[in-house]
Amino acid sequence: MQVRAISTPNIALIKYWGNRNDELRLPAADSLSFALDRPTVEVVIGSAKQFSARSFGPDGIKRELSEKESGRLLKHFLITKKYLREIGSGDGFPKSVSLEIKSQIPKSVGLASSSAIFSALAEGYAKFAGKLTRREVSVIARLGSGSASRSVFSGFAAMIAGQGDSIGSSYAVQIAPKKHWTLWDIIIVPSTKEKETGSTEGHALARTSPLFEDRLREIPRRQKMCIEAVLQKDFEKLQKVAEEDSLNMHAVMASSTPPLNYLSEETHRIIREITALRERERLAVLYTMDAGPTVHLLCTKDALSSVRAYARAQDKCAIFEACIGRGSHLL
Ligand code: PMV
Repeated sequence: MQVRAISTPNIALIKYWGNRNDELRLPAADSLSFALDRPTVEVVIGSAKQFSARSFGPDGIKRELSEKESGRLLKHFLITKKYLREIGSGDGFPKSVSLEIKSQIPKSVGLASSSAIFSALAEGYAKFAGKLTRREVSVIARLGSGSASRSVFSGFAAMIAGQGDSIGSSYAVQIAPKKHWTLWDIIIVPSTKEKETGSTEGHALARTSPLFEDRLREIPRRQKMCIEAVLQKDFEKLQKVAEEDSLNMHAVMASSTPPLNYLSEETHRIIREITALRERERLAVLYTMDAGPTVHLLCTKDALSSVRAYARAQDKCAIFEACIGRGSHLL
């Protein structure tokens, strides 16, 4: 049997940073995002006698997986198997698999390729397992990359942190489907240099920041405000809470031991200019940054042409564009 699935990254409005259990990627707090409609990652999963994984880049050329990357894929398969056994759905699941990952996402540009890869894999594994709920699919995605759990839904999704140490205790839920509110993500990439500390290692440092406990106390209020902003399509409310949360996550990162300074001079310049442009032209645009200097400018259709023009005028920056998307699905 062979299964094909496709997925995309998502962009977080309330960020996931830090776990209560690093091994199982059980988050310390809730988070919220919307799925993007591109760039895509397609996976082909076949049952096999022995585990293998091959990866192809946007140009279709084979990209050698590092030992760490192959190890992560194998670990994800094994823990998925364990979870499926736990929920009584492990019977038809293959002994091992061969994976083919075809990514349209340029490496390390601040687009979460892992969220697209592991949500696509979760979708495929779920097909092998038989009838799983979307919640269970989101748990499988989370086991490879926490934020991937949110990519299994169309439109806006929240990751519910939950409590305890059982594999299924944290999962994602849909807040609103993509047709609810058409938002765009204009992505400005100041540097395509690979980042030194990936998010998996970064999450493990979150607790060393003196600001982390305070962040955990603030997140329930922010998450509530963000859900309300999405449901009410209140862009100003969304802008306030999303920018506050992104800057707060970066303050936590920068004050951890060792410090993680993902933002660059260019990031700060773009933030300043976008804030000024927003005030001048009264644009519905907000900025948010993940674990890198890349700036995501989220905006409504009314603001799109101005935001696009601003992005295209940036010298030496790569620009990507995406709209709200439908999340992972089978092909
Ligand atoms: O899913 P991970 O382990 O790659 O973590 C993602 C972390 C951020 O992108 C910084 C925030 C988020 O919620 O997507």
